[in-house]
Amino acid sequence: MITVESSSPSLPRSNNNGGPIGGTFVHRNGADVFIHDRIDNVQDAVDQALFNEKRWVWVEDEKHGFVEAQIIQDDGKQYEVQLKGGEIRYLSVEKIYYMNPPKFDRVSDMAELTHLNEPAVVHNLTSRYRHNEIYASTYSGLFLVAVNPYRKLPIYTDEYIQSYKGRRRGELPPHIYAVAEEAYRDMAHGKNDQTILITGESGAGKTENTKIVIQYLAAVGNTAIRSRIEQQILQANPILEAFGNAQTIRNNNSSRFGKYIRINFNSQAQICGAEIEWYLLEKSRVHGQSPSERNYHIFYQLLNGDESIKEKLLLGGKTAHDYNFTKDSNMTIDGIDDAKDFEKLVKSMEIMGLSEEEQFDYFRIIAAVLHIGNLSVSRDFGFDRSDVHIEPLCHLLGVAPQEFRNSFLGPRIKAGPEWVRKGISQEQLRFNVVALAKALYERNFSSLVDRINQGLDGVKSMGEQHHYIGVLDIAGFEIFEVNSFEQLCINYTNEKLQQFFNHSMFILEQSQYRAENIDWEYIDFGLDLKPTIDLIESIRPSGILSTVEEQCYVPRGCDKKMLHYLNNTWGNKKNNSSGKYEMSRFDDDSFIVKHYAGKVKYYTKGWVEKNKDPLNEDVTRLLARSSNAYVARLFKDYLYKGTSDEPTVGLDGTLSKPTRLRQGSGSFRTVGQRHRQQLAVLMTHLGASSPRFIRCILPNSHKRAGEINTPLVLDQLRCNGVLEGIRICRKGFPNRMAFEDFRKRFQILYPDDFPLNKFMYGRKACELLLDKMALDPELFRIGVSKVFFKATALAELEEVRNRHLATYMTGFQAMCRRYIARQRMTRVARQTEAIRVIQRNARIYVTLREWPWWKIYSKVRSMGEAMKDDIIIEEQGQKIHQQEKQINEQTHQIQDLMTQYQNLTIEYKGSTDTVTRQEAMIQEFEESKRALIEKLDMCEEEMEKITKQSEAQANMIARLHQDIKECNEENEQWVTQYKGLQNTHETVSARVEYLENENERLLKEKKQEEKLKKEDVDAMRKELEELKKSSETQILALKVKIYSYCLIG
Ligand SMILES: Nc1ncnc2c1ncn2[C@@H]1O[C@H](COP(=O)(O)OP(=O)(O)OP(=O)(O)O)[C@@H](O)[C@H]1O
Ligand SMILES: [Mg+2]
Repeated sequence: MITVESSSPSLPRSNNNGGPIGGTFVHRNGADVFIHDRIDNVQDAVDQALFNEKRWVWVEDEKHGFVEAQIIQDDGKQYEVQLKGGEIRYLSVEKIYYMNPPKFDRVSDMAELTHLNEPAVVHNLTSRYRHNEIYASTYSGLFLVAVNPYRKLPIYTDEYIQSYKGRRRGELPPHIYAVAEEAYRDMAHGKNDQTILITGESGAGKTENTKIVIQYLAAVGNTAIRSRIEQQILQANPILEAFGNAQTIRNNNSSRFGKYIRINFNSQAQICGAEIEWYLLEKSRVHGQSPSERNYHIFYQLLNGDESIKEKLLLGGKTAHDYNFTKDSNMTIDGIDDAKDFEKLVKSMEIMGLSEEEQFDYFRIIAAVLHIGNLSVSRDFGFDRSDVHIEPLCHLLGVAPQEFRNSFLGPRIKAGPEWVRKGISQEQLRFNVVALAKALYERNFSSLVDRINQGLDGVKSMGEQHHYIGVLDIAGFEIFEVNSFEQLCINYTNEKLQQFFNHSMFILEQSQYRAENIDWEYIDFGLDLKPTIDLIESIRPSGILSTVEEQCYVPRGCDKKMLHYLNNTWGNKKNNSSGKYEMSRFDDDSFIVKHYAGKVKYYTKGWVEKNKDPLNEDVTRLLARSSNAYVARLFKDYLYKGTSDEPTVGLDGTLSKPTRLRQGSGSFRTVGQRHRQQLAVLMTHLGASSPRFIRCILPNSHKRAGEINTPLVLDQLRCNGVLEGIRICRKGFPNRMAFEDFRKRFQILYPDDFPLNKFMYGRKACELLLDKMALDPELFRIGVSKVFFKATALAELEEVRNRHLATYMTGFQAMCRRYIARQRMTRVARQTEAIRVIQRNARIYVTLREWPWWKIYSKVRSMGEAMKDDIIIEEQGQKIHQQEKQINEQTHQIQDLMTQYQNLTIEYKGSTDTVTRQEAMIQEFEESKRALIEKLDMCEEEMEKITKQSEAQANMIARLHQDIKECNEENEQWVTQYKGLQNTHETVSARVEYLENENERLLKEKKQEEKLKKEDVDAMRKELEELKKSSETQILALKVKIYSYCLIG
């Protein structure tokens, strides 16, 4: 069992332009079909590479249907495979089913699968189902497979209807709307009738899908009075379901009849009416059901419904427990409220235009059936005198109770020219009672459907019917443990429908081959089923149905004779060359028919009686004369012309031929005859219309959402012809590709022969490619625009291509892996390094955390910056000090020089000879003065700089002061120190001020000195002029003296 992920599907994807995503692709059956883009191409490539590493196959498994395995080794005939769990199996080639590459996972059209085998189809369906994709199409849309989701999916909204409206098949994911749209479009444009055949097991979703198709057609085939038609067509369903559906083990709302709904359209493709035909109503349900099942819904709805109606129907205060036909059944269904459903039913009947009286008549028969069920048949071959049901029953049926009794207990039959009353056994009486109940129910149902048709037909007045779309909702193939006459009828129907499908495929396929000029002798696979159909319906020799029929007419005909005849006729090679009939090896009154869906063993007990479905004609004649018009109408075919009543049942119960004395529908027909006739009409309809097939699949037998039982699905695929379709496909050339697609896909194998941008005709390119590939000519055909391949041929080519691509992919993967590995390595190395640093720091931190010096450092650290400023200030202070020292020294030098100068001047005064010396001295002094002035300038500059620095330092100190003030409230001892520093700073400032003052003073003194020097020089000049006049000798001596003095200085 596989459980479905609870993801809900989204609206069909489309690109920005509103168009669908993907591209076209031509394949089986030749149609241009839209293929959806794969979303993750990279993932696809990776999956493909992984897939290519091994040879994957499916192998049969008893429990799971099929399981995955990989081929370990093989010799072409015998395979050694390993299952996923490790189990090794040795299998022959027929037991090996190749697996499709992952790119085919969940393809929406199963015909695209390169390996088209049973497990591939099952795998596709189950994996799609897991993603809530319940629809899958195949054979170019001829088939739509629908798996019952058993949950409400948001895929039937108006939005969805709109999105499928006007779209081509394949543009959007497969959906029943797409099928309905195509049928509608073909009907509207192609102007031919269409049929949608919906088949499947009970509970598979046939009726639901039928309703969905009708909902779609009602929405798209809109008219001016659309709502009325739409409503009427849609409202026909609840009525049909109330009277024709019942709860079974498999389905809470199981249709116990088949139906064909024809929706008629006028020339503007607008709905103008509808018609319903019904088949094979399960009458036996009326009188008996298994305890876990129910009778028809209508019984419970009526008994839980409006009390006033019940009173009128003489059911007042009664429940389902009070009636034999319902009391042993399941009374309620989870989530179903019968009372509410009854209200809905009445409403639907009103919408359909049924008057209250008409409604009452239909309920009248239901009530009558309930009363019939309670008639007690006593041991002395009669009804109990005290029976309280006869009177109400007769009242409802509009007949006299006494006549009713007489007709039942002593029916009149014709013995020769005389009318005689025939005595009947208790057994026969019981049989007749039940037969009457069944007949009443069936005739009531039939009349109801006629009335609905009348209602729907009334709309026709809107416009003349032009074309129709028919929807067939009919039970699929049935293979039970005990199969009876009913199963034969339904399986015969399905065999016919499958034959029709095969034939349709043949027509479609043949048209493709013809269009492409393919030289091939096609086999009509519809003929494959002919032997089985002949076996059932043949007249000469008598087939099964005819044999049963004959036994109904021959004297003392019975089931044993029937089987004997069948075995004699069909048990020999002459009539049974195809081997479709098999006699039972046991004496168990059975025979076997080989249907396309499998062998079915039919047990013949009661067939003749079932086929006759006899009624006590005395009673039916009585009912035909009922005072109630409706009841009389139901049995009007039993009303004899004129006065001479003539019986139709012989003394021994044999039907007398001809039985054509009744009015109305005329001849009596057996069940088999009637079914054959109905089927013939249906097949005529189908044959005259373009068919589309919907195969509904039951995912599990517990009505559980999200669970899929593979063997069960496989079984149904076999029964409903999906696998049969595959078989047919495989015989032809199912894979086909347009020339261009084929070239694009495979030219990669021969790059030298197909250089880029080189033009080559598609056909020539394909021929060249196929030639290079050396493919067996029997495996392909070249058409006009496509290449056609046998089932496995394209798969082999794909494999070669995949191997080719795998080489590239492996290289690419290796590069990617290397790149990723390197990146991972670098990251890991960096992470390791980072971890080491973090660890080291953590260790240091842990050590330092408790170290007292670190604690002090931590506290001091915040003051570090302030300390640095102090140091700078101190250094500046020292520099200033040094400058001051230099200035002092220079000042002293100046003073010394001045002293010397004074001495010299004095000496000069004393001697005129010293004038020259003094001039030189003056010169020197002037030079030294200049140097001193320069020095002084420098000092001034220096002073200026120092002043600026001092100012900056002052500012800095102010800032620091601010900072220190702000941040060091907790460190008061440092604040004290800071104050000390502040004092120092003040001292320095004072010293700077002092230096400035000193400097100023020195400048003043210098100026003074210069002034004095100038005065002295002037005086000396005067003296020098006087001295010039003194002796030259003295000057010389003085010169020598000055020279020597200078040297010493
Ligand atoms: N498309 C669907 N979406 C949701 N639920 C569905 C769908 N199809 C079927 N079901 C569920 O499955 C149940 C059975 O479906 P339905 O009555 O259509 O089966 P069926 O094939 O007509 O069976 P039968 O032959 O017994 O009449 C429905 O009552 C409904 O609950
Ligand atoms: Mg149904």
